[in-house]
Amino acid sequence: MLKGRNILLGVTGSIAAYKAAMLCRLLKTSGADVRVVMTPLAKQFITPLTMATLSKNPILVEFFDPENGAWNSHVSLGEWADCYLIAPATANTLAKMACGIADNLLLTTYLSARCPVAVAPAMDLDMYAHPATQENLEKLRAAGVAVIEPDEGELASGLCGKGRMAEPAQIVRSVEALLDQKKKSLAGKRFLVTAGATIEPIDPVRYLTNHSSGKMGYAIAEALARRGAEVTLLSGRTCLPAPEGVRRIDVLTAADMYRAATELFPSTDGAVMCAAVADYTPAEVADRKLKKGDGDLTIRLCRTRDIAAELGRMKNDRLLVGFALETHDALAHATEKLRRKNFDFVVLNSLQDPGAGFRGDTNKVTLLDPSGAEELPLMCKTEVAGRIADKIENLLR
Ligand code: C5P
Repeated sequence: MLKGRNILLGVTGSIAAYKAAMLCRLLKTSGADVRVVMTPLAKQFITPLTMATLSKNPILVEFFDPENGAWNSHVSLGEWADCYLIAPATANTLAKMACGIADNLLLTTYLSARCPVAVAPAMDLDMYAHPATQENLEKLRAAGVAVIEPDEGELASGLCGKGRMAEPAQIVRSVEALLDQKKKSLAGKRFLVTAGATIEPIDPVRYLTNHSSGKMGYAIAEALARRGAEVTLLSGRTCLPAPEGVRRIDVLTAADMYRAATELFPSTDGAVMCAAVADYTPAEVADRKLKKGDGDLTIRLCRTRDIAAELGRMKNDRLLVGFALETHDALAHATEKLRRKNFDFVVLNSLQDPGAGFRGDTNKVTLLDPSGAEELPLMCKTEVAGRIADKIENLLR
């Protein structure tokens, strides 16, 4: 049920931490990839060795590895996770989460997580019933955190009442339900995503292409599919495997991509045009390898057709998202493309921004629609894809 899902398990300093070992094992056997972040106090209740062995991943406690200074990035942990489950969650951690206090790795990760977050409170009955705890839980619910109610029964204090952490099997079921809910936000919607670089043959050996890695388009296809959409990825050349649950159609040239895109677009709810399509292609393709001569060689190029502009003409009430990669006057050029190609919004990346554009795993983009521009900070491409999917979701609503 959790196959292929990334679950970040946060463990805090409660006696119920011993159950985190069973919980971790159940998450693993349901097919999830599990990473564990612990508060410093949680280590007193269950050893990192136990959790590392069960999760098959190193345990994260500190902001830095004291041995080599390596940084444990709470931002990347939050991006990696499909769900952040804090179990057991103590009254202290819940209070800090509700107030935005960030004095350990588990809490900073909570503040930067964009995925669904669930907490399984564990504490004594009076602590649980205390108005302060109940108020904090209300605040967390209002912030979208799923609270997995504790059970009633015998507590470590010897008292009996509500406060026992829910049983691990129940917690796994709650996580599955939470992910199903999230997954379905684009259920029933169909998208076409173009990605990668086209290849324009010169002869049987040589071709014209560009630096596009396809990473951004593949991340968008994956983000849409994870939300339940049916995604067709029209892919030029990349070295990437097709994301899970996405139908990939490989094409070579701009003309191939044009044919496939115009055929597929009418049966979709929208398209994201992420491919780096050649603007020019050799006017003639030699059927034999061109032999070198003494002098220079001139290859005549002719214009390819603009796929995005054609889909813009066909679009009716479909959604169309374009990209603009600019080196100068970025905003002006992107605004012009938004209008000319009839895009609903444009994802602008400027090659002048360090960390943006081709090949890398990060991007720095501005989302531009007719009502204005939203400049996003430097992020992983998977996170940028999430923001694009959020905007698509809002526009379809
Ligand atoms: O005009 P420019 O190439 O800068 O526009 C970029 C946008 O148009 C991108 O979304 C790209 O995928 C799309 N495009 C296209 N077909 C072309 C050229 C660009 O779909 N032939």
